Amino acid sequence: MYAISLGDDGAELRPLEPWQAGEFLAHMDRGREFVGRWNGLPDVVRDLESSRAFLQAYAEKAAADAGRIYGIHWDGTLVGGFLLRRMDVAQGTAEAGCWLEPSAVGKGLVTRAARAVIDWAVEERGVHRVEWWCAAGNAPSIAVARRLGMTRDGVLRESFLYRGVRHDEEIWSVLAPAWREARRAGA
Ligand SMILES: CC(C)(COP(=O)(O)OP(=O)(O)OC[C@H]1O[C@@H](n2cnc3c(N)ncnc32)[C@H](O)[C@@H]1OP(=O)(O)O)[C@@H](O)C(=O)NCCC(=O)NCCS
Repeated sequence: MYAISLGDDGAELRPLEPWQAGEFLAHMDRGREFVGRWNGLPDVVRDLESSRAFLQAYAEKAAADAGRIYGIHWDGTLVGGFLLRRMDVAQGTAEAGCWLEPSAVGKGLVTRAARAVIDWAVEERGVHRVEWWCAAGNAPSIAVARRLGMTRDGVLRESFLYRGVRHDEEIWSVLAPAWREARRAGA
């Protein structure tokens, strides 16, 4: 299996494809409660069939050049994911998303995965603007956006209805020139 190293501590970014539905479900079962606090993914990935359907939908997005999904591995185990939920190459825009199971939090895995995928989107695919949408109360996700050098564009007030509660949703983004500048500066 090919993989991109995310450091010398066993962290890797790998493709995440429909044939890995069982591994993806096991990972989601380990992170279901934690991930589900702010992210609807555990409600979508409930069993083997829905796990495969979710990964198949991303395989089709990739084939249409409209999105991507990658697995984050730690010592060989799938512990998280990073995705481009939307990608519009003609417009030069993309929206990124992420999650980790609890054992993988606090190691910089998502920030490192984000750097690899956003570098690819910006440098190889000509994406100009990468967005990050998150609930205003999701402090760890906002911290990732900050760590990536993103700027808060604005707030969609009470736009996110999740498990019966309305939340403000923040939109953060980074533009290609700022991304390159931050990468040059070693951020
Ligand atoms: C959002 C989420 C992925 C953030 O996880 P995280 O581990 O805090 O984020 P990162 O992988 O970027 O790691 C950053 C942490 O690792 C530390 N770290 C260690 N090595 C690091 C490195 N090389 N680079 C960056 N950070 C590093 C940082 O100091 C930080 O720790 P701190 O929060 O104690 O300061 C996680 O909280 C999650 O899965 N939440 C549930 C799902 C969710 O909300 N997804 C987002 C929806 S918008």
